[in-house]
Amino acid sequence: MTDDSSLDDDTESDHDHDHDDRGADESTESDRVPVLLVREDREFLIEPGAEQGTDLGVLEVPADVQPGEIVETHLGEAFRVRSLRGPDLFHHFERTGAPMVPRDIGLVIGETGVSQGDQILDAGTGTGVLAASMARAGASVVTYERKGEFADVARANMSLGGVSDAVDVRTGDLATLLEEEGVESLGFESSFDVLTLDTGDAASIVDYAPDVLVDGGFLAVYSPFIESTKATVEAAREAGLSNIRTRETIQREMQFDDRGSRPSTAPVGHTGYLVIARNV
Ligand SMILES: C[S@@+](CC[C@H](N)C(=O)[O-])C[C@H]1O[C@@H](n2cnc3c(N)ncnc32)[C@H](O)[C@@H]1O
Repeated sequence: MTDDSSLDDDTESDHDHDHDDRGADESTESDRVPVLLVREDREFLIEPGAEQGTDLGVLEVPADVQPGEIVETHLGEAFRVRSLRGPDLFHHFERTGAPMVPRDIGLVIGETGVSQGDQILDAGTGTGVLAASMARAGASVVTYERKGEFADVARANMSLGGVSDAVDVRTGDLATLLEEEGVESLGFESSFDVLTLDTGDAASIVDYAPDVLVDGGFLAVYSPFIESTKATVEAAREAGLSNIRTRETIQREMQFDDRGSRPSTAPVGHTGYLVIARNV
């Protein structure tokens, strides 16, 4: 979840994801990864070969554009080309379910060791920022989103993030699926290395953690509220997970000016609680 009050579960915006005009057999996902076109406070995430209207004219992005180059609008206004990096997903993905902020994604990845070759089960997908970030760290992610329209947006976001090959966005309610059809319904061949949950009903999914996780695999549950966090901890204990730890995720912005240095007096940066546990 996020500390940005402008983020609303129902927030929607438009992105046109035009594809480049090269032959399909010449173009791989990696060379179609969108780039950032940046000028002052303007920033657009665009696929190579696509067009973008701006207040400074239309940008036509060459199919073979490279980071570091300059692209001019049809009015001659220059934009710099940058590579997409992790925190850009948070700012540029089309928003549905409130996306996890970069610092909390860092905590999830750091606490669970998500890395190259890992298989991850995630719910709910929401905007898909966590799922895409774990895929960019080298993992394969199966992620469930119960709202069909959110799942559609998440699939487009995975494409925008260049990770649609690594993230399988499935439409469905993971808690209901597990309760009604069992773990086998997930259809995976082997168990998952990490289970990440960012849903209000996470506690009911935690019951199944020992069945879906490899021995030594990690559970990470993110929640903005104490009540659901407590329910998660109780479910993790009941399920026999070990090393159960709960931390509030909070950071203080620092201010440096002529009068001195101190933490910002703006509201504190609580985003949520993170429960980590291990299947041992
Ligand atoms: C806070 S958002 C997740 C944001 C995501 N972690 C990100 O970084 O973009 C929660 C999402 O979970 C979905 N959801 C809630 N319960 C679910 C369940 N049991 N199974 C699947 N999706 C669920 C909601 O529809 C919502 O889109």
